[in-house]
Amino acid sequence: MTLIDHDLGTPAPRGASRDAHLPEVSLTIDGESVVVPEGTSVMRAAAIAGVDVPKLCATDKLDPFGSCRLCLVEIDGRKGTPASCTTPVAPGMSVTTQSPKLERLRRGVMELYISDHPLDCLTCAANGDCELQDMAGAVGLRDVRYGYEGDNHLSLTKDTSNPYFTFDSSKCIVCSRCVRACEEVQGTFALTIEGRGFGSRVAAGANGNFFDSPCVSCGACVQVCPTATLTENTVIELGQPRREVLTTCAYCGVGCSFKAEMQGEQVVRMTPYKDGGANEGHSCVKGRFAWGYASHPDRQLSPMIRESNTDEWKKVSWEEAIAYSAKKLKEIQATHGQNSIGGITSSRCTNEEVFAVQKMIRGAFGNNNVDTCARVCHSPTGFGLKNAFGTSAGTQDFKSVEYADVILLIGANPTDAHPVFASRMKKRLRAGAKLIVVDPRQIDLVRTPHVEASHFLQLRPGTNVAVINSLAHVIVTEGLLDEAFVSERCEPVEFSVWREFISRPENSPEQMEAHTGVPAAEVRAAARLYATGGNGAIYYGLGVTEHSQGSTMVMGMANLAMATGNLGRDGVGVNPLRGQNNVQGSCDMGSFPHELAGYRHVSDDATREMFQQLWGATIQDEPGLRIPNMLDAALDGTFRAIFVQGEDIAQSDPNTVHVQSALKAMDLVIVQDLFVNETAKLAHVFLPGTSFLEKDGTFTNAERRINRVRPAMRPQTGKHEWEAVCDLAEAMGFAMRWNTSSEIMDEIAKLTPTFAGVSFDHLDRVGSVQWPCNEANPIGTPIMHRDRFVRGLGKFTPTPYVPTEERSTRKFPLLLTTGRILSQYNVGAQTRRTKNVKWHPEDILEIHPADAEERGVREGEEVTISSRVGATVLRAHITDRVAPGVVYTTFHHPVSGANVVTTENSDWATNCPEYKVTAVQVSPGRSASTVELDHPEHRLGALVRMANQIARQWAADSSADAVSATVYHLENFWEHDMRVDLARAVDTGSVTVDDLVIEAVRRLTVHA
Ligand code: SF4
Ligand code: SF4
Ligand code: SF4
Ligand code: FES
Repeated sequence: MTLIDHDLGTPAPRGASRDAHLPEVSLTIDGESVVVPEGTSVMRAAAIAGVDVPKLCATDKLDPFGSCRLCLVEIDGRKGTPASCTTPVAPGMSVTTQSPKLERLRRGVMELYISDHPLDCLTCAANGDCELQDMAGAVGLRDVRYGYEGDNHLSLTKDTSNPYFTFDSSKCIVCSRCVRACEEVQGTFALTIEGRGFGSRVAAGANGNFFDSPCVSCGACVQVCPTATLTENTVIELGQPRREVLTTCAYCGVGCSFKAEMQGEQVVRMTPYKDGGANEGHSCVKGRFAWGYASHPDRQLSPMIRESNTDEWKKVSWEEAIAYSAKKLKEIQATHGQNSIGGITSSRCTNEEVFAVQKMIRGAFGNNNVDTCARVCHSPTGFGLKNAFGTSAGTQDFKSVEYADVILLIGANPTDAHPVFASRMKKRLRAGAKLIVVDPRQIDLVRTPHVEASHFLQLRPGTNVAVINSLAHVIVTEGLLDEAFVSERCEPVEFSVWREFISRPENSPEQMEAHTGVPAAEVRAAARLYATGGNGAIYYGLGVTEHSQGSTMVMGMANLAMATGNLGRDGVGVNPLRGQNNVQGSCDMGSFPHELAGYRHVSDDATREMFQQLWGATIQDEPGLRIPNMLDAALDGTFRAIFVQGEDIAQSDPNTVHVQSALKAMDLVIVQDLFVNETAKLAHVFLPGTSFLEKDGTFTNAERRINRVRPAMRPQTGKHEWEAVCDLAEAMGFAMRWNTSSEIMDEIAKLTPTFAGVSFDHLDRVGSVQWPCNEANPIGTPIMHRDRFVRGLGKFTPTPYVPTEERSTRKFPLLLTTGRILSQYNVGAQTRRTKNVKWHPEDILEIHPADAEERGVREGEEVTISSRVGATVLRAHITDRVAPGVVYTTFHHPVSGANVVTTENSDWATNCPEYKVTAVQVSPGRSASTVELDHPEHRLGALVRMANQIARQWAADSSADAVSATVYHLENFWEHDMRVDLARAVDTGSVTVDDLVIEAVRRLTVHA
């Protein structure tokens, strides 16, 4: 496909909504007629007519500035030579872009620039990609009359503080493009022009270098710089790229489109693609610069096997690894039954790779024991939105935020976790939209340059539902409902039940304040703003879903949006900010144990029949095991083998000690990944995976946008991941073969109504599409539920607030909540292998000054953080971003293992873990209690956890069967791998067997 790079000089004029067409204006440019929307600049109109007016300070990525005076034109009937970039078109206008006078003026401008510019074009990194060089050619500059001897800036030193780009001020023409990009596109305001006249220079922050400034390394300034002043270090090292491949970032759920600019199979740079639907030419530090992990020496390129997970790895051929895996899997099934094995798909992989793995599990393994990492992040989104609206996905595209008047941001930190979308949101906020932030921690958006939240509801962790209910309570009891929308679009009976529920005094902000800690008056004001401020849009993240009431909260937000009529058009909606690049896609592809592709239940005979016909396999009609069930069953001894596709569950899942114990208890762990990560350290088979630069397929982002991932190089492992999966399925006796990944998408389209119109050819033609994409919506569906909900009428559901079981106690008086930081990504497997570590070399614990003082914790010192399941050591940062009683950390570094302390609590509907609330204690230094837990370490916690689980089962069903099942669990529990851990724990003197049994029995007794 052809990549569109033509810079039209100024952006397109913006209408009141994207459906509203601006009136058209007709004019002539150099005698040619052109018709453009009202508000278009003369420069842009000329470019559309095929006439590129010389320019330096203008680019269509930024608002016109009018500083360089190179783009002068003549307009019939007007005096002088106006700048075409800042002059709007007018009806009947007649423009001349070339004349002897204009040529003379432009040459004069260029002469001035060149007289203060190093004449080292031949050795300059930008040679061949420099607009200054191009413009000198375009205006026919042949001589510089002023010479090069006068005052100049040629001896200014370079700023190399940023690990990814260099600032060479001696080449700067002070066009302000970089400053404007940092303000307009990124919204960080890190750059200024210091000084006046000849002395004016670009400066980064107060300290004068990029690294120490507020710069977030998004690269927007580098991209717009028309000279070599701001240049990627890789371009300086390697030279200009020679070919480009359009692909998609493999980090977060924004799904930015990039041109991979290559020399052979070497990436020279990743440039955000202007026509990328999700990013429109913008990027963040991860997608733009942090791609070096793909060729990091740690990457494993050969298959490996070993009998025991304590043996040394043996590198083997693909054939041997596949044959070994298939034989073992079949043996395990022969001994322990068909359902004794399963697998996990990855939200990091393409739709096609995910589809292949779930097909292998359903077809070759013969069961539904498939789950995905969405289990631990956005599974409540799928559940809650499907219940309310009929579809398991967000309602809007990203562009919709440009039309929002009030943004309700809940449990999300977009400037760190979804940076490119955050920039779009900030732009809208700077233009006047209002912001309400609901978060236990003061995220950047609460107050950042030129953005300030109207309301910051700093709730206690775990009380989201209390807040959403009290917001809805105000809206209902103060008569702020959109009655017309509700009566036309929603189920009437469910609505009246909900209305009665939400009106109860127990849901009022005043009564909820005791739980949430948010002043009632603030909640009332925020509710009024959301309900009456125009288009109200909800955006939310894992701070909503990763709770024991995650699904309840998603339904609560859906209730709020329906009650106020904020659905079905631009600027509104309920929008999950998805964590991983393809978490939407992995869910769409049938990765859940109860659903086939397109969210159709496995018990649905017609759906199953369709798959069975095409696959020639029998699909079980009962849901299989979820990830937590697989892990528990592994410890029970009933689940013996797992295929883990690109996911480090031993680090990313909660209570990692439990996960590791479960993995150790299995007879066979197969990991398909780039690196020998924490999970692979416990594996028996390692199948090397491909990086996004080698993949051929699609990712589906948070706005349901299906983006192509095109290979920039061959698989460095010799095989696409889906090919290895096909090989394994066939070695197990199940016929599964495609020739290309586009054939996989064809099969997906055949079996999945929302993907019916999708094919690689179609995506190559139209760029990207948002599902549903089918005959009715051939170019996709940016906004869902326009005239009716997918389920017909919207469904209100009462959402009673149930406090989490995880609450602060005398022993664990603080509440820990977790999140991400901009420069790192998830478990850090990729970003830790890039220069991004310069920004975030370790996880940090944020603690309020009052809590720090009470504990004698000092800034920058190590502290022990312990919960009832484990303990770890982090460095403290004292800050009032967190409220007293709350501490916060990230989980990007395995060495700190923040998830060692997170517990087994999970969402009632989906088992999504409650990462966001853990009762903890913090004490200075590496305390004695941690030393006690070190090594057999957090296993003590795992043992207690098991007892807890038994107690729950007992409490749920106290029949004789349950009693014997409990005894069985207990026996297995002691018999299994845990016995070894127990022995170690006992050896260290940290616990006795009796203590553990007493604890288990005590809990059983309490619950029974
Ligand atoms: S650094 Fe580049 S973009 Fe910024 S003012 Fe200088 S030449 Fe223009
Ligand atoms: S890299 Fe981004 S944040 Fe940093 S100065 Fe440039 S535009 Fe601003
Ligand atoms: S915002 Fe997300 S998708 Fe875009 S470049 Fe950054 S990490 Fe990649
Ligand atoms: S491009 Fe118009 S003034 Fe610089």
